[in-house]
Amino acid sequence: MNQNKLVFANWKMNLNLDNATSLVRDILDRLKNINHVDVVLSPSFPYLSAVHSLISSSKISLSSQNVFWEEDGPFTGEVSSEMLRDVGCSWAMIGHSERRQHLLETNEMINKKVLTSVAKDLRVILCVGESFDQRRQEKTYESIADQLQRGLRKVDERFLKQIVIGYEPIWVIGSGKAASVDDISSVHNFIFNELKLMFPSSELLPRIVYGGSVNSSNIEDIVALENVNGVLVGNASMDCDKFCDIVMKVEDSK
Ligand code: PGA
Repeated sequence: MNQNKLVFANWKMNLNLDNATSLVRDILDRLKNINHVDVVLSPSFPYLSAVHSLISSSKISLSSQNVFWEEDGPFTGEVSSEMLRDVGCSWAMIGHSERRQHLLETNEMINKKVLTSVAKDLRVILCVGESFDQRRQEKTYESIADQLQRGLRKVDERFLKQIVIGYEPIWVIGSGKAASVDDISSVHNFIFNELKLMFPSSELLPRIVYGGSVNSSNIEDIVALENVNGVLVGNASMDCDKFCDIVMKVEDSK
């Protein structure tokens, strides 16, 4: 079973076609000799095909930043798992906090997206994380347990190998300062134990990756932690040097 570490680039609603394709070319050039890290790029919907045609003969994989739960029909503006597979995606990102906040995605919507995506053979990165207020009120663990339980409701054990949990404390995303290694470590251990409780008979549990102001200076300390199986990178993933530095440090952490 593949237990490589994962480095997942989330470009959000950034980069135009030229910027995205030249960034991909530079990344491909720099990351030729990566063997122990799964690298996934997640551009905006309109650029998925263009990015796919550049990476299709490399080991780098493609993800969308969202997916809808129905297969087809009157759902204007939405995109199905099949459509994503058609344009070369093998991954879908689900439940990012920016979508929970701005698009009012609920755990129930997120759960439907997870269920249909894994059934259609996509890998899924399911994002969870606490807000600053929840943290202040000491509700971090309660909130994360709730997002995990509701987001993974009715997921059959056989699909767990397709799922990665992305832990992103909302209050550090884009702030330039990651959570402390102590905080990251306790929440990742908590998520690991929750997953064990939820799927007691499964030999394999989803990998758990950390996101929130990951950069080339903090990556080594973060990825060295137990139960941290990789990282989800926003800002730093749009700079070839910074991103490749992160990937290479994760590769060396083996
Ligand atoms: P950041 O974003 O690395 O810029 O904090 C991470 C994310 O939102 O996925």
